[in-house]
Amino acid sequence: MSYSNGDMCGIAGYVGERNGVEVAYDQLKRLEYRGYDSAGIAVQVDGRLDLVKKAGTLNMLAKELELHPITGTCAIGHSRWATHGGPTDLNAHPHFDGEQDVVLVHNGIIENYLELKEELMQKGHTFLSQTDTEVAAHVIGEEYRKGGTLLEAVRHAVRRFRGAYAFVVMSKSEIGTIVAVRNASPLVLGLGQGENLLASDIPALLPYTRQVVAMEEGHLAELKKDSLRIVDGDGRDVPVRPQIIEWDVAAAERGGYEHFMLKEIHEQPQVIRQCLAGRLTEDRVFLENIFSDTVWNEIDRVNIIACGTAFHAGLMGKHLFEKLLRLPTDVYFSSEFRYGDPVLSPKSLAVFVSQSGETADTLAALRLCKSRRIRTLGIVNVVGSSIARECDRTIFTQAGPEISVASTKAYTAQVLVLSLLALHIAQVQETPGLRVADWVEELRLLSDHAQTVLTLEPETVKLAEQLKNMPLCFFLGRGADAYVGYEGALKLKEIAYIPTQESPAGEMKHGPLALVEAGVGAIFGATDPSTVDKVVSNIKEIQARAGTVLSITSDTSGAIRKASDHTLEFQPTRFDFLNALLSVIPMQLLAYHIANAKGCSIDQPRNLAKSVTVE
Ligand code: F6R
Repeated sequence: MSYSNGDMCGIAGYVGERNGVEVAYDQLKRLEYRGYDSAGIAVQVDGRLDLVKKAGTLNMLAKELELHPITGTCAIGHSRWATHGGPTDLNAHPHFDGEQDVVLVHNGIIENYLELKEELMQKGHTFLSQTDTEVAAHVIGEEYRKGGTLLEAVRHAVRRFRGAYAFVVMSKSEIGTIVAVRNASPLVLGLGQGENLLASDIPALLPYTRQVVAMEEGHLAELKKDSLRIVDGDGRDVPVRPQIIEWDVAAAERGGYEHFMLKEIHEQPQVIRQCLAGRLTEDRVFLENIFSDTVWNEIDRVNIIACGTAFHAGLMGKHLFEKLLRLPTDVYFSSEFRYGDPVLSPKSLAVFVSQSGETADTLAALRLCKSRRIRTLGIVNVVGSSIARECDRTIFTQAGPEISVASTKAYTAQVLVLSLLALHIAQVQETPGLRVADWVEELRLLSDHAQTVLTLEPETVKLAEQLKNMPLCFFLGRGADAYVGYEGALKLKEIAYIPTQESPAGEMKHGPLALVEAGVGAIFGATDPSTVDKVVSNIKEIQARAGTVLSITSDTSGAIRKASDHTLEFQPTRFDFLNALLSVIPMQLLAYHIANAKGCSIDQPRNLAKSVTVE
C-alpha cells in the first residue's frame, strides 16, 4: 500500500464456456480493494473485439454494460488506478491497437512509452488516450501484423518495453486465446475444468478454482479453455506447476462484517492459531525451510527492511532480538535502505517483511542485498509473490488474504513470526536464561487472549464517539509500547484522517509537548510493569496541559487506570512483549470505530491503495 503515484490496477481474464463478461466483472468486484478510478471489459466475438469501459466505479461500468451489452466466452477486464493520463473513459482500459487487431489491459508503467509513441507517430499511428498502455497496444499490434502467433508477437513486443508491467492481450483472430506476460507486476493464473482464468490477485480466482500458478518474472502464458502453456522470454516452454490454495472463498470476502478491516481485526485469534500451526512442539519452536544452525551461529547482525505497517512489525522484531538474544538489529524503511548505500556485514542477515510480497521498494532492497551476497530471509503473507520467491528463505505469515487497505492481521502475524524466529535462534544458540518452553506455553494461549481483548470492542465504540473530533492524537509508550503506538497512529491517520504524533513517551518534553492543549488526545500503551511509574508521570504531563488521556493497559497495579481519563484494560500474559502486541487490537478497533463514526471510507481510504508495485 502506498500513496497515489503507484499503479495498482486490477486485472481479470476468462476463457471457457461461461459468459466471460459476467465472470470478468465478478473478478473485478473481488479486486475492488486495490483501488481504482475506471474500469472496462473486452470480449472476442465473431472475429472482432468488443469493449465497454467507463470512468468511475464498477457500478458505472455495470450501467454502461446494460446500455451497450457485450457477450463472449473469452474476456479480459481491468480496474485502473491512474498513472499516465487522468481517470477518463478514454484512458480506461482495455485499449485497442490502431487497427483493432488486438486489445489489452495492463498493470504497471512503461517507462519508455514517450519514445515509443514518438516513433509510432512518425509511422502514422494516432492515439486516442494519453496512456502508456495504448502505446503498448500499438507496439503489440504492429508485431502481430508481422505474422506469427499472438504469443510470439507479445514476446517480441515486450523486448521494446522498459518498466514494470503485466499485460493481458486478446486478438480478433485467435479465437479463445488469451496471452499474458509478467514483468515485475503481479499476475496469477487459475486452472479450471474446461475454463482458465487469470487475475492480478488470488481472491479474484477463488470462486472458480483453487489451482493457481503465480507467473514468474519475464514469463508469458497462453490460456485457452482446455490448455495453459507457459514460456520464458526466449520462447522455451516451462513446466506449469499449480499450487493448491487452501483459503476458502468466504475468507476472501467480507463475511458478515461491514468492512474487510473489521473482519480482519476479528480474524486475529484465528490468524494467531494459523500462524503458529505446526510451529510449536511441546517445548520448542519449529520453523520450516530455515537456514542451518551453522548459519544462525554465524550471523552477527540483523537488518530488517520493510515499509509502513511491516516496518512497525520490524521494530517489534528489533526489540525482541536485542532484548532476548543480544543480537544487534537495525530496522530500515525499504525506500531509504535501497538508496542509502547501507553498510552491510557479510555475516549479517537481511529480513524482508511484507504482507503482499510485491512492494516495489522492499523488492528493490532485497535485490540490492542479493547483489551484495547478503543472506536474505522473507517474512511474507502472499505465497508465490516476488519477495517470497526471491529470498533465500521465506517464512509465511499464514494470515490468509488481507483485503482491507489498512493492515491489521498481517501485522500481528508478522510480529508473531519475528517472535518465532527469535525463539528459533535462541534454541540454536542456547541463549542463557531464556526458557523457550515458557514462551511456547504462553504462545499457545495467545489466541484466547486475543479473543478476550476483542471483547473490549463495545467500549471502543463508546470512546470513538467521544474522541472522534480530536484535532490531534498522540500515541505514546515506552519500549515495545512505543513501537505498537507507531502502528496505532498509522491506523488512525490512514482511515480516520486524524493527525497523529507518535513517539516514545520520554521524548515528549523535548518538543512535542508544545502541541498539547484542550481537545488534544493522547493514547498511551502501558503494558510494561517496569515503566508504570514513568508512564504515570507522562500521563500527568498531558493532563496538566488539558489533554485527554486514554490508556490501553494490562497493568494490574491500578496505577495507570487511576491516572488516566479513560482506560481499555485487559488481563496480561506472562510476557510483556506479548501484552504489547495484544494492545494493538484495541488501537485497531478504536481507529476503525472513529473512522466509522466520522463516515470515512474505511476499506479504501483516500489517496491509498493496497499493494504498491512501483516506486
Ligand atoms: C498500512 C499498510 C501499509 C503496508 C505497506 C507495506 O496499513 O498496510 O503501510 O504495510 O505498504 O506493504 P507490504 O507489507 O505488502 O510490503
